[in-house]
Amino acid sequence: MWRKLSVSLIDSNRLRITKIREINRESPTVTTFIFHDKLCFRAKPGQFAMIWIPGVDEVPMSLSAISPDGRCSISVAKVGEATEALHKRKTGDVLGIRGPYGNSFALVSGSTMVVGGGTGLAPLVPLTEELAELHAKVVVVAGAKTKDELLFLDRMTTALSRTDGRLVAVTQDGSHGVEGLATDVAEQLLEKEQFDVLYTCGPEEMMYKLFLLAERYEMPIQASLERLMRCGIGICGSCIIGKFRVCRDGPVFSVKQLREVRQEFGRFGRGSTGKRVRIPS
Ligand SMILES: Cc1cc2nc3c(=O)[nH]c(=O)nc-3n(C[C@H](O)[C@H](O)[C@H](O)COP(=O)(O)OP(=O)(O)OC[C@H]3O[C@@H](n4cnc5c(N)ncnc54)[C@H](O)[C@@H]3O)c2cc1C
Ligand code: FES
Repeated sequence: MWRKLSVSLIDSNRLRITKIREINRESPTVTTFIFHDKLCFRAKPGQFAMIWIPGVDEVPMSLSAISPDGRCSISVAKVGEATEALHKRKTGDVLGIRGPYGNSFALVSGSTMVVGGGTGLAPLVPLTEELAELHAKVVVVAGAKTKDELLFLDRMTTALSRTDGRLVAVTQDGSHGVEGLATDVAEQLLEKEQFDVLYTCGPEEMMYKLFLLAERYEMPIQASLERLMRCGIGICGSCIIGKFRVCRDGPVFSVKQLREVRQEFGRFGRGSTGKRVRIPS
């Protein structure tokens, strides 16, 4: 058993080279890259991979699709050097992959609310697909600034069609679905309906508001956090929040862990020098 475990850790730390099989433009700023990987297809929703863009950098990315036939994907927002370089890659170009790393969302078969914003929806799609398999009641609140930036509505709708669930799209400018913030919609839903757990991933300010709501309604929340990552395996300390390392102890944090880091959660991250920096609101 111990031998088996060590072999699997060694395997996930080994860099694999894979080809981009397909590229799908999701929005003006987000593109999905589909590839095959012998380990990532065994990942659980919420886990991430370290993606090496040869000659540029290595960055953490959630797996936005995990398929038993070996196909996986990452859905990438163009925000800086590495992600811009990735957006220039074409079908057939190579990427390096390490992982899958980190913990995953814990599946609950009851009544669940899933709240995501922007690329935060990436790990929430495979989560919703797995929750749908459990025949859980799943209500998804998908938020974005505008209609063009709403992601994965088709995949969410297909998954939810198998459940007693529904999708609520929310845009800040009202160009699609409900006008406003995902957190406002979540609050209205919590006032009317009972949920066993709240899952979230997206801007930290949004997740912090949801954490406060979960505390008010005395319910569990699982939030997937982002921090600057270098090693991805708990060694370098780039990703610390309180006493935790997001790559190793997360990225999915329970309500108990979030309480322990509430001085930093939603407020401070770490810059490239390790210095504490305020999270932009
Ligand atoms: C566990 C985990 C999972 C992640 N999953 C995804 C994912 O599925 N899709 C995805 O697109 N990104 C994801 N990210 C974020 C992604 O790793 C960063 O966007 C990427 O490392 C930025 O690299 P860069 O060189 O392009 O930008 P940098 O040069 O490092 O940063 C450029 C600028 O963008 C800002 N920035 C960095 N990250 C973000 C961000 N996420 N949103 C807005 N601004 C940002 C920086 O503060 C900086 O000002 C994830 C991060 C973690 C830790
Ligand atoms: S990225 Fe190195 S400890 Fe987390």
